Amino acid sequence: MCGIIGYQSQNKEAFDKLDEGLKRLEYRGYDSFGFATISEGNLLVEKKIGKVSTSSIKPLPGKIGIGHTRWATHGKVTEKNTHPHKDCAGRLAVVHNGIIENFQELKKDLILKEHIFLGETDTEIIAHSIEEFLKIGYNLKQAVIGTGNLLKGRNAFVVLDSTTNKMIAFRNGSPLIIGIKESEIFLASDIQAFLHETNEVMYIDDNEIVVINGGIEFFNLKNGEKIEKRRIKIDLDSNVFEKGDYKDYMLKEIMEQKETLAKAINQDAQKILHVAQEINNAKNVFFIGCGTAARVAHTAEYVFSMVADRQVNFIPASEFENYKHFLLPETLVIAISQSGETADVLEALNVAKEKKSRIISITNSPESTIAKMADFPFLINAGPERAVASTKATTAQIALVILLAYACTGELIEGDKVLLDVAGKVNDMLNPRYKEHIKALAEKIFKKENAFIIGRGINYPMALESAIKIMEVSYINSQGFAGGELKHGPIALIEENTPVIALVSEGKTKEEIISNAIEVKSRGAYIVGVSPENNEVFDYWIKVPEVDEVASSLVNLIPMQLLSYYLGKFRGHDVDCPRSLAKSVTVK
Ligand code: M6R
Repeated sequence: MCGIIGYQSQNKEAFDKLDEGLKRLEYRGYDSFGFATISEGNLLVEKKIGKVSTSSIKPLPGKIGIGHTRWATHGKVTEKNTHPHKDCAGRLAVVHNGIIENFQELKKDLILKEHIFLGETDTEIIAHSIEEFLKIGYNLKQAVIGTGNLLKGRNAFVVLDSTTNKMIAFRNGSPLIIGIKESEIFLASDIQAFLHETNEVMYIDDNEIVVINGGIEFFNLKNGEKIEKRRIKIDLDSNVFEKGDYKDYMLKEIMEQKETLAKAINQDAQKILHVAQEINNAKNVFFIGCGTAARVAHTAEYVFSMVADRQVNFIPASEFENYKHFLLPETLVIAISQSGETADVLEALNVAKEKKSRIISITNSPESTIAKMADFPFLINAGPERAVASTKATTAQIALVILLAYACTGELIEGDKVLLDVAGKVNDMLNPRYKEHIKALAEKIFKKENAFIIGRGINYPMALESAIKIMEVSYINSQGFAGGELKHGPIALIEENTPVIALVSEGKTKEEIISNAIEVKSRGAYIVGVSPENNEVFDYWIKVPEVDEVASSLVNLIPMQLLSYYLGKFRGHDVDCPRSLAKSVTVK
């Protein structure tokens, strides 16, 4: 949520590096963007509403600079609210990611001290607060430390100072990382911003500041003491972030599911068995996540019940605090998060830590804050997911959850076999003809304003997830329901030709979900069946491979991802960057 970039070099111009880096961070927010550089002691700032990849801005001269792509939290999408923000004197420029929870109180105080605010963002207080500390005689480093210590909430910011020609970064709760390429220094919210330039990095941890002034110096926020840091080489090829032959990341990532399921279950058997033992020994187990990851956590309830005969609980991470009185040292909290940076999950894990509960993470990012907080971090190895709509990470997470459930029953090898079989079937399924078949359905229904998805058992959370996918990419009002729930209210919304998609699996829920489809068809619904077998109730049939009921969650979801993609395309949307969303939700 919001992307930060910084750059300094002795002899190269900063602007192109900042611009390129920011384009690679666009997935973090795309409401507006801006840059600041220093040239001959002058602070230069340019900002614009819109996406950095599709709008151009006048290049700024200078060998040091910062950039920002915004996902609006405080204040509308206006140029005044676009970062970088300046202090009153125009000496400093600040870019920020996070939410300053006590900003109203800090702002009041600064207004009393006669600071002038131009917009409504919480960020502006950082520039004015540093300015205030400078006024009373602090040097820049002390002023950043003083300001950093005032901020409540999860934040990261970078300040550019035209007087000292320095850049100082602050991190507490929102990600920031440094990249080094000979005499060039990069600073970014995500390694993706500079991996095409260098794979040599230095990690900034929480409660640290970094002074960049030709060199790189780390300091502790609490006592101002210097910290020694190592340079690390990351083993990641920047090509994995590219679109390749695809027009959109979303389609590329859907198609990558040909391989990602097998990669997700390729885990260290000893670690899986150890964690399975922890699950078996735990007094209670909570799966948590947000959005699509919450749907995976919800799926885990069904998976563990069906495979391991074990009760586990699903709680949306943002609601987790309400359950804190159930947390014990013998409690296991399993956090699911693609990015590993989602603020609500981090908050929930802080609660779990307070209660000394054990933490397992399932993320797609080894260096993420959530992975670092976990006692046992699992990686799904899906490769970077750039499209805001999660696809390949979701199925990889579900596959790993299924594997863990099998391991809990002592049947890890059987679980591996089942999932490898599914991975092979998914590989066959994702062929050009299949895509065309789903595209043809999207063409039929893309003008509809409502769509309903129904499922029973494990396909109930899949119906909920399918609804998220359709709504975020196509903006069609789509809702998922447990098949049996439809006639308790939502059936009133069914009109002639309203699409109702039934997720069917071979197993005990099959007949009931078909009955539910018949019920709505008799009210005029247009029934789409996602099922291994055709049925006379279906107006349109999407065939999926026959797999066992647990694995139907995987094979039924994939056509729904494709349908969402094509619905978004037919409706003319930017499927990779849907409106109002961002890939990594680092604010509560
Ligand atoms: O990075 P995370 O998995 O923690 O993200 C959680 C949600 O923000 C995310 O799944 C969101 O719902 C996606 N846009 C859904 O496609």
